[in-house]
Amino acid sequence: MVKRKLVIDTDPGIDDAMAIVFACLHDEIDVVGLTTIFGNVSTETATRNACALVELVGQDIAVARGSDTPLVQAPRPFAWEIHGREGFGDVQLQPPAQGSLVDETAAEFICRKVHEEPGEIDICAVGPLTNLALALRLDPSISAVARSVVVMGGSLDAGGNASKAAEANIWQDPHAANAVFSAPWDVTIVGLDVTKQVVCTPEDFSMLAVKAPTLGGFLNRVVQYYFAATRERSGISGCHMHDPTAVIAAIRRELFTIRNSAVEVIEAGEQAGATVRSASTERPSVSVCCGVDNTAVQHLFLRTIETGF
Ligand code: BDR
Ligand code: CA
Repeated sequence: MVKRKLVIDTDPGIDDAMAIVFACLHDEIDVVGLTTIFGNVSTETATRNACALVELVGQDIAVARGSDTPLVQAPRPFAWEIHGREGFGDVQLQPPAQGSLVDETAAEFICRKVHEEPGEIDICAVGPLTNLALALRLDPSISAVARSVVVMGGSLDAGGNASKAAEANIWQDPHAANAVFSAPWDVTIVGLDVTKQVVCTPEDFSMLAVKAPTLGGFLNRVVQYYFAATRERSGISGCHMHDPTAVIAAIRRELFTIRNSAVEVIEAGEQAGATVRSASTERPSVSVCCGVDNTAVQHLFLRTIETGF
């Protein structure tokens, strides 16, 4: 079987941890690297968490540290109220003993990887898009050699979660998102329009802890904080599977209804971070996920983690 090669750009983060564990366990995915970014926590904490996750899954995956700050705007507060100060709710992972950290920035790592295997690397970004924008700045030719870019971010018709209008990843760095959405590469947006429809419950995660005590057990422990935050904000018993849904969109496009449109990001003011359809003929069209077979996505996530240990 030919595996899809994924670089995951991430701010771990509870649902980031779910996405990374899912990708590492799925037999059609080869995770070729994690690049880190601020968002849910600082870049320093995100990097430590990414290294700890690599150790937890027991795979040899490079981690490259990304930017500490957005491209233009002043840094926004981290999402501690959703993910906890350390990013994994109340759970403290052991500081990683083995060095999976490479001596390159995230942007340099992305540029090197996509050129080493032209047409082979999918970039799945589940945090603010600063590293991708910096990679494009460093080497615009990556847009021609990356296989695709799948972004968890934005919201076309579902309202925001960081502000009334903006989804958190885009709100953290709207200028970077604008750069990524206007570059000539194959971009798919997996925003709140679909990720809010994919919900897993406390029962789902308890079952994972029983069937896969190490990795399912870890996810069940960290998700408790996320459940409490989601209950308080949205009143639901369960959590939105934002980042795992983006990884699943990278390998199971047929589970999504996709419409093509140019997308622009409002960079400042009250609507900062909002993603809007654009009539501009100069902007490339991107694939926007508007519908999802949420049951199939939930099942695929749960079944894949169950095979863990
Ligand atoms: C996105 O923001 C972060 O809090 C999550 O990890 C996810 O990537 C959801 O809006
Ligand atoms: Ca994330």
